[in-house]
Amino acid sequence: MARMQSPFPSRPSLLLPRLFLLSSVAAAVCEAIVPAIIVFGDSSVDTGNNNAVSTVLKSNFHPYGRDFIGGRATGRFCNGRLPLDFMSEAFGLKPTIPAYLDPMYNIEDFATGVCFASAGTGYDNATAKVLNVIPLWKEVEYYKEYQQKLRAYVGDDRANFILSEALYLVSLGTNDFLENYYSNQPGGRKTQFTVRQFEDFLIDLAIDFITTLHSLGVRKVSMTGVPPMGCLPLQRTTNFEGHHGCVEEYNNVALEFNGKLRRAVARLNRWLPGLQMVMSDPYELFLQMIMTPGYFGFDVAQRACCATGMYEMSYLCNQHSPFTCPDASKFVFWDAFHPSEKTNQIMAEYLTQAILLPTFS
Ligand SMILES: *[C@@H]1O[C@H](CO)[C@@H](O)[C@H](O)[C@H]1NC(C)=O
Repeated sequence: MARMQSPFPSRPSLLLPRLFLLSSVAAAVCEAIVPAIIVFGDSSVDTGNNNAVSTVLKSNFHPYGRDFIGGRATGRFCNGRLPLDFMSEAFGLKPTIPAYLDPMYNIEDFATGVCFASAGTGYDNATAKVLNVIPLWKEVEYYKEYQQKLRAYVGDDRANFILSEALYLVSLGTNDFLENYYSNQPGGRKTQFTVRQFEDFLIDLAIDFITTLHSLGVRKVSMTGVPPMGCLPLQRTTNFEGHHGCVEEYNNVALEFNGKLRRAVARLNRWLPGLQMVMSDPYELFLQMIMTPGYFGFDVAQRACCATGMYEMSYLCNQHSPFTCPDASKFVFWDAFHPSEKTNQIMAEYLTQAILLPTFS
């Protein structure tokens, strides 16, 4: 049984003071700490690839992006930037990471950062099928194509340097549980596996995925676990029995899955020569923001900013709702499934300062 999460944060005082050191670290950096940041995953890190895919899971319209540079709705599931954008900036690279399928960008832009992520995808092929988005194996195919373009653009030596020294961010898993396993699709994974077995199945897929990346020359990897997914507003809205509290079972599964992923990361570091992989898991900090929003300067954590905040995302979060909040920085969540820019910034600064910079610089 996963350990139960205390309803109150155990040590916010340890976390907070470190968050605000980052800007001085970033300012002291004149040259980038890694040559590029390269990203795989789901909507937590998709910077616009789904715009080019025929799926209903899109966000390239307002009010998405209303606090982004130029107020642009890029396809990020947020009012502003995502954690990977803040991380890129903190590493001395661009303030935003372009999506590989965005026609506005080319290999010159992608040489210092590129995102292959697709909202709605998961480790399991069956998850990507639910909303017809890019499966993880296809993200890897795009990455192989990118390697070739990069070699043609900067030459083999420089390309090998960039590809092996780049920081790779991997963030997915939530959709495997919420969109696939727990959605009770006919013939879905729930008819096939207990949730423990499904966790192990996903861990095996994650191990295969990292092994494939390693064989392609990837060395520096940050693996993100899943968030306290029982506390996403959509899950709380439908938690009638629990009086709209967090769904305890989903949070326990998230903790258990993250623990298994952490052990897989340790094993992979022993197995794969030259691999330098860390777990950068925002679970605890995210839960602290949800449980004590006022401590972080938020007013609301139970519902999201967009529309009624109870169940809307993608096309249901649109310009026609009169209820969308005026100031998203007062909300932990932007839509019913995704954090606000401010939440993303707090998580990114913490993970960068506590884990990524100490490991990779
Ligand atoms: C996922 O789909 C791809 C492409 O069809 C296939 O190569 C791969 O083996 C599948 N993965 C699993 C675990 O079934």
